[in-house]
Amino acid sequence: MQIKLETQPFAALDTEALVTYVFEEADPVQGRIAEIDQSVAGLLRKLAKSGELTGKTLEFTLVHAPAGLKAVRLLLVGAGKREQFNNAVLRKIAGAALRYLKARSVKNFAVLIREGSATDEFAQAIAEGALTANFETDKYKTEKKNDKNIETVLIAGYSDAERAAGNKGLSKGRIIADAQNFARDLVNEPSNKLTPRILAEKAEAMAKEAGLAVEILDEKKIAGLKMGALLSVAQGGPEPPRVMVVTYTPANPKPGAPVIGLVGKAVTFDTGGISIKPADGMEKMKYDMAGGATMLGVMRALAALKPNVKVICVVPSTENMPGGTAQKPGDIQTAMSGKTIEVLNTDAEGRLILADGIHYAKQLGATHLVDAATLTGAIVVALANVNVGVFGSDQPFTDKLLASAKAVGEKMWQMPIDDDYRDFIKGSFADIQNISSGKGGGAITGAMFIKEFTGDSPWIHLDIAGTAWNDDAKPWLAKGPTGVALRTVVHLVMSH
Ligand code: BES
Ligand code: ZN
Ligand code: ZN
Repeated sequence: MQIKLETQPFAALDTEALVTYVFEEADPVQGRIAEIDQSVAGLLRKLAKSGELTGKTLEFTLVHAPAGLKAVRLLLVGAGKREQFNNAVLRKIAGAALRYLKARSVKNFAVLIREGSATDEFAQAIAEGALTANFETDKYKTEKKNDKNIETVLIAGYSDAERAAGNKGLSKGRIIADAQNFARDLVNEPSNKLTPRILAEKAEAMAKEAGLAVEILDEKKIAGLKMGALLSVAQGGPEPPRVMVVTYTPANPKPGAPVIGLVGKAVTFDTGGISIKPADGMEKMKYDMAGGATMLGVMRALAALKPNVKVICVVPSTENMPGGTAQKPGDIQTAMSGKTIEVLNTDAEGRLILADGIHYAKQLGATHLVDAATLTGAIVVALANVNVGVFGSDQPFTDKLLASAKAVGEKMWQMPIDDDYRDFIKGSFADIQNISSGKGGGAITGAMFIKEFTGDSPWIHLDIAGTAWNDDAKPWLAKGPTGVALRTVVHLVMSH
């Protein structure tokens, strides 16, 4: 799919559909909408009067053969209240318009920016919205809807003087959306098509293509490093584990500057191990590698965006299987850091592999840590599928991440991890245990466990169990993997 900036006046745009958005206000026919209304001889005002054009969020009004416009159709999308309008709303509008028009076999359309808002930020939002909306999860369907393909999206409403800003936003949006779709593509793969070894191959190929340094640790190297927590999960099945290390180094690295460590959980399938999960819904546990996919996607974007900070990405990957050699509840493991762990529940495996991933990232020189993981069902209970759970050991660093989330339109909510929760993971027979002996605070328990391996380094943990997968399609996004947290982490790194 092509996306281009087009500075022609809207009436002259040769496109199958001219798309713009309408605010919900006393008179929705204002500014550019009033200009279009003039071209179509007052039709929009009539629609507004009859109540067919209100500006309510994601209301669609489709006009065929609009006289006075070269476009074949005019599509008006409700944008809600003007005061609440921002790049997140525009991203959804562009995405929802794409999916609406694609379903109607339209092949190209133009999104017309409203008056006074021809900025790089909004061009970026349109590009991101369109590209992520165009992603489908039908890779393994033999009968594809081949006739339904969007070929070209134009971003319109920019003057010649605004062209440079628009193009800047457009190329940034393309980089970020392509990275997000790269991550979603990985998450979409079922576990028989994406084992830790296959994920490592794909990570290596991505890194080489993007010009990033990459090292894949196989089971022998992992054993040599004494990553006992990761190995304890991997011993449950025949597939060997892998650790992916992808590094971005800026052109002029400053000595003594901070180094960001990104760690992502990549359990390519989580049966629960001996503490086995119920059969109902278990198929979804193929997305238990979404944290790792997100961080690999972040690296792919950073390679193109070139921040002035070094970033080390560590992705530990394994299956969690209940084979005859699997670890059993009560087993005591020694993590790479030397800490001993009593594994009371083999289904709390994400925190085990992150323990070694985080320790290794620190050993490689990371000074600031961010991890992303589909870690707990408890975060789904707490925040449903709306907010990412954010846990942070350093409030200024955490505030930066929350500001990044806000700037890119991803919903995130901070959870507590003060010392009163430390008792939850205090071990009876080892240094720590991997679940709480009591009830409640399941997502916090997971975070407290990971915190044990972060030392003094500022660290943020993102629990994306509720947000990495859409159970139902949204108007702007297909059912399935969302690629959540990628935009926020990219923004955080770019502003560090
Ligand atoms: N991968 C799961 C968490 C999960 C649950 C992800 C639902 C996506 C949707 C994780 O490994 C897990 O099983 N966690 C347990 C922890 C418990 C045993 C303390 C959980 O949440 O039930
Ligand atoms: Zn589990
Ligand atoms: Zn898991």
